[in-house]
Amino acid sequence: MKARFKKILAPSLAVVLLAASVAAVAQQAPKPENLIKWRQSAFQLVAWNTGKIKASVEGQYNKDEVQRAANAIAAIANSGLPGLFAAGTEQGKGWHDTSAKPEVFKDAKRFGELNAAFAKEAGELATVSAGGDVAAIKAQFGKLQRTCKSCHDDFKSKD
Ligand code: HEC
Repeated sequence: MKARFKKILAPSLAVVLLAASVAAVAQQAPKPENLIKWRQSAFQLVAWNTGKIKASVEGQYNKDEVQRAANAIAAIANSGLPGLFAAGTEQGKGWHDTSAKPEVFKDAKRFGELNAAFAKEAGELATVSAGGDVAAIKAQFGKLQRTCKSCHDDFKSKD
């Protein structure tokens, strides 16, 4: 009985496991539509949080709110955004048509460098926010915003 189990069941178990792992690999490649949605959502969240910081440092300063927003931006900036610009997503629709320029895919190295600069300045902003010095936060926030602009100038079409 034991030997029979091994002979019949073990090979079929292997087939089932193989099928399961093939399915898992297939699941690991997200649909282009999802990749585009995720990157558009990520940048929308970044914009939401930069808006909160701008309102806070230009109006009624709220230390906790600025800190939370800066932390959120730093986390998104460090989440590996260039991975969402995978081959096959040069064109297409996420929440709407992608506004990534073809240059993103032609010069992935520079795109990665600009993303790294974005992540660095966002990390700095999170650090500076903890100090609660509004002038220093404003200055660092300006540096962060320049990283948005320099990437958008080259890699995002105007909408
Ligand atoms: C490394 C490059 C890069 C950096 C840095 C960057 N962006 Fe973007 N951003 C893009 C690209 C590319 C798109 C287009 C995404 C798409 O539509 O597929 C985009 C799209 C957006 C969008 C539109 C999202 C949508 O709904 O389609 C907003 C808003 C945005 N970025 C805000 C920001 C802000 C604010 C910053 C800085 C704090 C920033 N981005 C930094 C490259 C960048």
